[in-house]
Amino acid sequence: MNQPRMAGTASINPPSYVKHAKLIAWVAEIAALTNPDQIVWCDGSEEEYDRLCAQMVASGTMKKLNPVKRPNSYLANSDPSDVARVEDRTYICSEHKEDAGPTNNWMAPAEMRATLNGLFAGCMRGRTLYVVPFSMGPLGSPIAHIGVELSDSPYVVVNMRIMTRMGKAVYDVLGSDGAFVPCVHSVGAPLEQGQADVAWPCNATKYIVHYPETREIWSFGSGYGGNALLGKKCLALRIASTMGRDNGWLAEHMLILGVESPEGKKQYIAAAFPSACGKTNFAMLIPPLVFKNWKVTTIGDDIAWIKPGSDGRLYAINPEAGYFGVAPGTNSKTNANCMASLARDTIFTNVALTDDGDVWWEGMSKESPAHLIDWQGKDWTPESSKQNGQKAAHPNARFTVAATQNPVLDTEWDNPAGVPISAFIFGGRRSSTVPLVTEARDWIEGVYMAATMGSETTAAAVGQQGVVRRDPFAMLPFIGYNMSDYFAHWISIGERITKLGGIAPKIFCVNWFRTDASGNFVWPGFGDNMRVLKWMLDRVENQVDGQEHIFGVTPAYEHLHWDGLDLSKDDYKQITSIDTQAWEKELSLHAELFEKLAHRLPIQLDQTRRRLLQTLSA
Ligand code: OXD
Ligand code: MN
Repeated sequence: MNQPRMAGTASINPPSYVKHAKLIAWVAEIAALTNPDQIVWCDGSEEEYDRLCAQMVASGTMKKLNPVKRPNSYLANSDPSDVARVEDRTYICSEHKEDAGPTNNWMAPAEMRATLNGLFAGCMRGRTLYVVPFSMGPLGSPIAHIGVELSDSPYVVVNMRIMTRMGKAVYDVLGSDGAFVPCVHSVGAPLEQGQADVAWPCNATKYIVHYPETREIWSFGSGYGGNALLGKKCLALRIASTMGRDNGWLAEHMLILGVESPEGKKQYIAAAFPSACGKTNFAMLIPPLVFKNWKVTTIGDDIAWIKPGSDGRLYAINPEAGYFGVAPGTNSKTNANCMASLARDTIFTNVALTDDGDVWWEGMSKESPAHLIDWQGKDWTPESSKQNGQKAAHPNARFTVAATQNPVLDTEWDNPAGVPISAFIFGGRRSSTVPLVTEARDWIEGVYMAATMGSETTAAAVGQQGVVRRDPFAMLPFIGYNMSDYFAHWISIGERITKLGGIAPKIFCVNWFRTDASGNFVWPGFGDNMRVLKWMLDRVENQVDGQEHIFGVTPAYEHLHWDGLDLSKDDYKQITSIDTQAWEKELSLHAELFEKLAHRLPIQLDQTRRRLLQTLSA
């Protein structure tokens, strides 16, 4: 790592291995605007990671955890105002408003640039500007994309090292003129001479901005998660979705898992669920004992890039290299593979600290420890929590961990060619109405199901929780362009598969979250989701029946394996029944969504809605 000093004026001094004149000029331009005290060109080495972590321990941003209990792991506590993605501050600044569409915040690029120039002017005073080169996807692979993030947050640097292929080798791929997505990030908290820093600097004013035409990202005011680790939601979803639209592929909010049967047949599934709805758990699922010798393995837990191959199949890669997962609720019963991944070399954010220097969060164990330091640094006991309702960990507390620590990482996870997808699953969190699982009868019906998905909101984004919102394809906050065009793009991918002579993957819609009259979940979920997964795989192979109803095909009770699970026929009925009145209401909500998106909505979707409504009222 190279650490030239510069007092406000830009002496850039890139290391000799950086040969990209445009990149160097851009760093100089941003340094001149933001005025950092120094520039550090990150090399991605372990030594650099350790040094930045030690620096953050010294400054109070992180605590080192007990090295015996949790080797080489850290805990960071954010500012209480900076705990989740800020969707209402996230902008798609395309030249024309209708290219961002009615579901995205929009501002004209020139106006946004003027606003950001004002905010970024001098915003890194007293801080270090880190130059963070990273690759989304295997380094040098033809499907990978390179980004360079300029950030004044060392917390961002160490997280990016886990979440992406980050470091010096990226410059070899970039050479002297390779393409990269420029990403500028500041916590927006300049330090005046003599001003003491705080543990988690941030700014009440936040902007997460994307320019899809010029493929640039600017983020101001937050140091947290998807607001600040710009390779993830900003590049790998919002910007990549526009690249995919232009070049015939898909960037999706999907996990990818492999399932291997006892006979050694391997199939891959991609599944989209809104944030904090169990994608990481599903991606690391441990089948129940009755599925002896079945293996589930992980390619990715959050993002998939999917491209049609010349054989008419869709091939998917996980562009990330780590998991930034929700900690609360994770334990050795719900996700033993995840717990094993977190045994060492992990950064935790906003979980609680135990008296022996380890971490704890709600749902980690049945009994909570007698005393903790909560995510806000305050004393916490089970009694105090009963009195004041304070959680020990923030509901959106996270862990950052390398994929290579996952004991069930799929052998193909790093394969640049990707893995062939047999089926897509779309799932929302719905306490009523939507059955446990439904198979679409064709591609268009599947696109319709995904387009009309609703889900109860969670703590992953700022805002009211538990209200149903339409979250098409689980991509509402992540599509970098007009949602109607995005639906059309999905339809065109189906047409392309047909043209190539392939068979489109089957599409399923699932809902693990239906509740009984007392509000308890009826379906056990987690490992038992294997029962539903097995039915879907058998449907792909035409080996099992289902029952057709007005919305598609759902297994009858006898079509699922029940050994080892005590779920009565009545309970099953409760989570698979179609309530006509509820569905009339549901279809009217679909109509509301379509009205909002009417301008460029593909005609096939409203045709499907009308057909379903007619069948329902027949
Ligand atoms: C995430 C999210 O962090 O979806 O993955 O919010
Ligand atoms: Mn996500």
